[in-house]
Amino acid sequence: MAKHETPLLDQLESGPWPSFVSDLKRQAEKKPECWDILGILELSYKDRITHWKHGGIVGVFGYGGGIVGRYADVPKLFPGVEHFHTIRVAQPSSKYYSTANLRQLMDLWEKHGSGMTNFHGSTGDIILLGTRTENLEPFFWDLTHDMGQDLGGSGSNLRTPANCVGQSRCEWSCYDTEEVCYHLTMHYQDEIHRPAFPYKFKFKFSGCPNDCVAAIARSDVSVIGTWRDNIRIDQAAVKEYVAGNYPPNGGAHSGRDWGKFDLQKEVIDLCPTECMWMEGDELKIDDKECTRCMHCINVMPRALRPGADQGASVCVGAKAPILDGAQFSTLIVPFMKVSKDNEFEELIEFIEGIWDWWMEVGKNRERVGETMQRVGLPTFLQVMGIDPIPQHVKEPRSNPYVFWKEEEVEGGFERDIVEFRAKHAA
Ligand code: HEM
Ligand code: HEM
Ligand code: SF4
Ligand code: SF4
Repeated sequence: MAKHETPLLDQLESGPWPSFVSDLKRQAEKKPECWDILGILELSYKDRITHWKHGGIVGVFGYGGGIVGRYADVPKLFPGVEHFHTIRVAQPSSKYYSTANLRQLMDLWEKHGSGMTNFHGSTGDIILLGTRTENLEPFFWDLTHDMGQDLGGSGSNLRTPANCVGQSRCEWSCYDTEEVCYHLTMHYQDEIHRPAFPYKFKFKFSGCPNDCVAAIARSDVSVIGTWRDNIRIDQAAVKEYVAGNYPPNGGAHSGRDWGKFDLQKEVIDLCPTECMWMEGDELKIDDKECTRCMHCINVMPRALRPGADQGASVCVGAKAPILDGAQFSTLIVPFMKVSKDNEFEELIEFIEGIWDWWMEVGKNRERVGETMQRVGLPTFLQVMGIDPIPQHVKEPRSNPYVFWKEEEVEGGFERDIVEFRAKHAA
């Protein structure tokens, strides 16, 4: 395959950030079709429009998703990308790898595909960018038989779940995000590989409200770790912070001089509920009023720790704008134990409660967040068998358009106008 002139792309080889153009050129020495990736991209830069045809339906037998088909609309100019399908491969929890595993995967991908990848897709998958239809089954065979790895999800199904690194290397993780992510991924393989839903559905798992996998914004079921007892305070370590012996925020702001650490200004005055104070040289927290925002813990990681009675809040409904506007997930279960001891039974029951309902009433291509908006939070809670509590809302409604159920209204809804007229003449 011929090299192409790429004057526009060449400009992206300058500057300090790792250049995808330089990387592609290096890969093209081994896989000449990469010249055509550069060529078609250069053409798009020039024309200011994409050169991929609409859609593309390809896959492997047995599965309804996992591969995003794609064809160039200028195949004669760039035969190397005539077919340019993307394969989603399931990633390990937290994306920890061995070089042996990655080398084996790259050998497979250079054999069957372009050698170009995306590490990782925003949902979490390993993304293998660019291959031909006839290579899909052979690649899938090798992936499953040689590597024991599987495809990820695409389409109207459960997509590939993802998690923050959790207890593997974070002191704040309130449950084992990796374990639950792996367990549910295995538990719901059928729902991942064979689309059976009104639309896509995602899980994400964060160990604490810092939410490093952004579950609250990017998953239909967002599981976010928390605790319900008291923040654990090491008063001796608090004194070290005050004395300036421990850097605040683990040294995160050391690139600039912010002055000497001021506990009052940087922690107590910034607590959103004003539930902290100093008593002599002891730091006090009124934990009943603490909303577990993580601020004080983030600032003084060596002195403060989440409580010991740990679990997660479960929120539902996040989605991007299309169709009816962007949503964060909304709180449904303030505290749930998330434990391997019972095979994550409570969470699984919760998820299946949503699915049983949404699979019946969800309209075609309606995310569960939209279904919730359509039927209303009270109805959703009722479906889920959850009693409404003040924590379900940020503020009560301000309009008076309140629905009552007939059985809640004395005398019901059937009224006789004649009876009314007997008291109120027309
Ligand atoms: C040809 C069309 C499209 C292609 C090739 C495409 C491709 C992709 C890919 C490769 C990912 C990352 C997947 C992963 O990490 O596993 C992704 C994610 C996503 N796509 Fe698309 N997509 C297309 C159309 C759409 C459309 C039309 C929508 C919305 C109406 C959409 C919404 C999303 C969302 C919400 C995500 C997930 C983002 C996240 O998890 O943070 N995509 N898409
Ligand atoms: C004989 C007494 C009343 C008469 C003749 C009357 C008449 C009306 C009329 C003609 C409208 C407009 C309806 C429309 O836009 O279609 C209206 C609206 C309204 N009235 Fe009255 N009204 C009376 C008493 C009251 C009382 C006692 C209240 C409150 C306790 C009240 C609260 C309202 C409200 C809130 C609206 C606006 C409703 C809306 O925006 O949908 N009215 N009234
Ligand atoms: S979300 Fe919380 S527990 Fe998970 S890695 Fe981030 S800070 Fe740690
Ligand atoms: S976690 Fe947040 S709300 Fe709770 S005491 Fe610390 S700063 Fe205040």
